[in-house]
Amino acid sequence: MRNIVILISGSGSNMAAIVRAAEQGRWAERLNARVAAVLSNRADAQGLPLAQEHGLATAVLDHKAFASREDFDAALMAEIDRHAPALVVLAGFMRILTPGFVTHYAGRLLNIHPSLLPAFPGLHTHQRAIDAGCRFAGATVHQVTADLDHGAILAQAVVPVLADDTADVLAARVLSQEHQMYPQAVAAWLAQSPMRVKRG
Ligand code: GAR
Repeated sequence: MRNIVILISGSGSNMAAIVRAAEQGRWAERLNARVAAVLSNRADAQGLPLAQEHGLATAVLDHKAFASREDFDAALMAEIDRHAPALVVLAGFMRILTPGFVTHYAGRLLNIHPSLLPAFPGLHTHQRAIDAGCRFAGATVHQVTADLDHGAILAQAVVPVLADDTADVLAARVLSQEHQMYPQAVAAWLAQSPMRVKRG
């Protein structure tokens, strides 16, 4: 069975969408894959109780407890690797990752970003799209590389920007599309990658 580890920092609604899709879509039988664990850098991440309700392993590593980004990422890698993941999914994980971390999971590390990349990498994407006068906004699922928000694009969802949108209203419209797109993109990644678990 191929393990998926999901990293979250906040509400975890994308994580929840993936967990539900895995259950309802019978990923274990069809794709030889399951969500094994949900990890967070914040103890108050709202997604953690939900993950536990679904019987998933959870762990919290508080980044503030580490002297450096490298130390935190090393500890996070050790926690992730306890589950020997075929795929690591960033779902609202709000930490910049070190090159060592990204290299370690090269080719098996996905992220969802709330803009139509390559437009608006970084933060405050919805306000920036409104301020730029964009008629469309959206979200992107991409491979993670050391270059922040610039890896190969796997999927995009597009929504209109309406005249009276605030950043919050636009964010909610985009997020509902993320919940459709991310599980589909993860399933597509699993379907096209080797079914068997690699050892060593
Ligand atoms: C989502 O909109 C996701 O695209 C964004 O954070 C939100 C997390 O929501 N991710 C980033 O901004 C990454 N830089 P969720 O915790 O409810 O899934």
